[in-house]
Amino acid sequence: MVEFNCSPLSRYQPLPNALSPEQEAALKTLQEQFSITDETTAKIVDGLNNAMDHGLKGTGEGLLMEPSYVTGRSTGQEQGNYLALDFGGSNLRVCLVNLQGKHIVSMEQGKHKFSDSIKKEKGVVLFGQIADFIDTFLTEQRQIGNLPKSQETALNLGFTFSFPMLQQHLASGVLVRWTKGFENFDVHGKDVVQMLQKELDDRGIWVKVNAIVNDTVGTLAASGYANPSSQVGLILGTGTNAAYYELTENITKLKPEVINASKEMIINMEWGAFDDNKKILPLTEFDNKMDSLTWNPNQQIFEKTISGYYLGEIFRLIIKKYIDQGIIFNGKSSNQFDTFEGVDTAFLSQILDDGSSELKAVGEVLDKSLGIPQTTLADRIFAKKVTDLIGFRAAKLAGIGIAVVLLRRKDLLDKPVTVGVDGSLYEFFPFFQAWMNGSTRKLLGPEYSKNVKFTLSKDGSGIGAALASMTATNIKV
Ligand code: GLC
Repeated sequence: MVEFNCSPLSRYQPLPNALSPEQEAALKTLQEQFSITDETTAKIVDGLNNAMDHGLKGTGEGLLMEPSYVTGRSTGQEQGNYLALDFGGSNLRVCLVNLQGKHIVSMEQGKHKFSDSIKKEKGVVLFGQIADFIDTFLTEQRQIGNLPKSQETALNLGFTFSFPMLQQHLASGVLVRWTKGFENFDVHGKDVVQMLQKELDDRGIWVKVNAIVNDTVGTLAASGYANPSSQVGLILGTGTNAAYYELTENITKLKPEVINASKEMIINMEWGAFDDNKKILPLTEFDNKMDSLTWNPNQQIFEKTISGYYLGEIFRLIIKKYIDQGIIFNGKSSNQFDTFEGVDTAFLSQILDDGSSELKAVGEVLDKSLGIPQTTLADRIFAKKVTDLIGFRAAKLAGIGIAVVLLRRKDLLDKPVTVGVDGSLYEFFPFFQAWMNGSTRKLLGPEYSKNVKFTLSKDGSGIGAALASMTATNIKV
C-alpha cells in the first residue's frame, strides 16, 4: 500500500486492495512530485526573504513589494458611511460601508458579474461598465433611502484594485500587468484611478475616487478594524497575495520625506510572482504544462501552485495523463478533462469533502459535473488522493510564505498578532486552514506560534477600501 501520510487531517482512509498496482505506483510518483521537503522549505524561506529584500530596496529584481501609502493602524473606533468598489476578479462589488465604531461594520452591497468577453475589451469599455454599475448602485441606494436623494459634494470612493500596480500616493495606481485572466492590455502602464474617474466624469456621476488599495491591503486594514493586532492581510481565492506592516526605514526605495513621515507602511508584496524564474519551487511536469497553457507563462509562478484559478487545471492535467495511460476511468475521457480550464477548483472542494467509505459524492461530481459517468471505487479514491496532494501542497506553500512574513517583524511576535484572511480557498477548501496553519506554526516554533491567530476577514477588501477612503478625506458620504 502507498503511505498516505502527507495530509494527516484528510478524512480519506485508503481501502486495502482497492487500487491496482499501476494506480498505487502512479500515486506514489505523484506524492513524491508534490511533496515539499524540509530542504525545499529552507530554500523557499531564503528565496522569499531575498526577493522581499530586493523589492524593498527597489533593485528591479525580486518581488514588487509595493508601498501602499497606508500608514498608521486602525483603532476600530472610526465611524461613518463610505463608498467602496471592489474589483479583483470576475465579480465586481460596490459597497456602502457603515463603520459603526466599537469594531462593528455593516454594509450594503451590489454585485455584478463580468462576462468573459469584457476581459478582452479596451480599457474604456471595461471602466465604462464599472462606472455604469456604480451609477445603478447609487440610484438604488437613493431609492431605498440609504443615501440622500440629492448631494452637495462628490461622494468619495475607495477603490480596491486587486492587481499589481505602482503607487506614488494613495489616490493613484498604475497597472503593472493584469493577472487572473484579464487581457485588457491597453490598460498596462496606465493609472486606473484616472481611467475610472474619466468614465465617471463623462457620465456625470458625481463620485470622486480618492483612494486605491490592493485587496490584501484592504483585508489587512479591515482586519485591523476588528482586531487592532492585525499584522498581515492574506488573500487565498482566485489569486493569492499578502500584505503586511513594514517599518518604513526598511523600505529604502521610498523618498526620505516619506520614510520620515511615518514609522510603518503597509506593503503589498505581490507574492504571487515569487520564483517567476523557476529556480526554487519544486515544480512538477503538470505545473509547467499548466503554466505553458496560460496566457502569461513564466509569470505568477507561486500563485499558480496555490490559488483557486489554477488548482483545477493542475488536477485536470494529472487526471488526463492517467486516463490516457488507461490507469483510471477505464481510459475514457470527457470534454471537461480534454479542455483547458475544463475543471473548476470548486469541484476539488466537493471531492475532498466526501468522507464516506464509498466516496459517493466524489462519484457524483465526476458524473454530473465532470462527464465521467461510470467510476469504480478505485477511480474515486485516485481522484480524491490527487485533490488531496494538490490542496496540501498549496496550503503548505502559503503557510511557509506567511511564516516568512511574520518573522520579518519579530519585534511584534511576543504579543498577540492576527493574520486576516479572505478568499474562497481559505473559506471553503476542506482542510486548507488546518494544513496552512500547521505549516506556518512549524516554522515559527512554539513560542511565537502561540501568539499568532488566523481570522477570516470576510469582505475585507470592501471594508478596507472604505477605511482608506476615510483616511484620504475624513469627509463623510
Ligand atoms: C493576484 C494579483 C494581486 C492580488 C491577488 C489576490 O495575485 O496580482 O494584486 O492581490 O491576485 O486577489
